[in-house]
Amino acid sequence: MKITSAEFVKSAFNKSHWTTDGLPEIAFLGRSNVGKSSLINSLLGRKGLARTSNTPGRTQSINFFLINESFYFVDLPGYGYAKVSKQTRSDWGKMAEEYLAKRDELRLSIQLVDSRHKPTELDLQLNEWLKFYAKNHIIAATKADKLSNNRLSKNLRQTEEAFPESKVIAYSSVTGKGKDALWQEIAEALKKEKI
Ligand code: GTP
Ligand code: MG
Repeated sequence: MKITSAEFVKSAFNKSHWTTDGLPEIAFLGRSNVGKSSLINSLLGRKGLARTSNTPGRTQSINFFLINESFYFVDLPGYGYAKVSKQTRSDWGKMAEEYLAKRDELRLSIQLVDSRHKPTELDLQLNEWLKFYAKNHIIAATKADKLSNNRLSKNLRQTEEAFPESKVIAYSSVTGKGKDALWQEIAEALKKEKI
């Protein structure tokens, strides 16, 4: 897809802040530090659009980015970061779950998992949740550049076994691996009517 414009629109801390223009949305979900913001920047070819950081748990709000004035990328806060307070963790749950459960504009959820590691309990839980609510979703296995080809193939097989009902795409925000495949999925999802 040719990106003609990409802009940060707003950070939402509750439902009243969500966008109201009804444009379709693609959501990015995954544990803290898995590479959500980096993947968004890499897909868009815009380096600093979504803020990335070495400090896990940085993105604490739901961030909306308007693309080509026709759809949104939605960066959800990362989960599973042990050092944030209990209150913050339960706020995450409420915010993300409310968004995922209620958002009519949602066309595709992209669940990020780290290609180097076995899925965490929370990764598995989120996937169960997406399946239970019959959400159109795929998995991006991030940071693929950090593995040898051999190791990557092996880990991808393991990821596919852990999520047997989900399509898995290896991704690297550093090399751009997986970018075309992921855009293809996004374009397909945007063509669909409500799910
Ligand atoms: P939160 O907003 O805290 O939930 O994190 P996030 O999921 O948005 O992760 P972010 O994109 O900020 O990336 C976290 C760290 O991983 C940063 O230091 C990135 O540079 C690094 N990183 C992200 N994607 C990749 C990748 O594909 N390859 C490599 N080598 N590093 C990556
Ligand atoms: Mg982030």
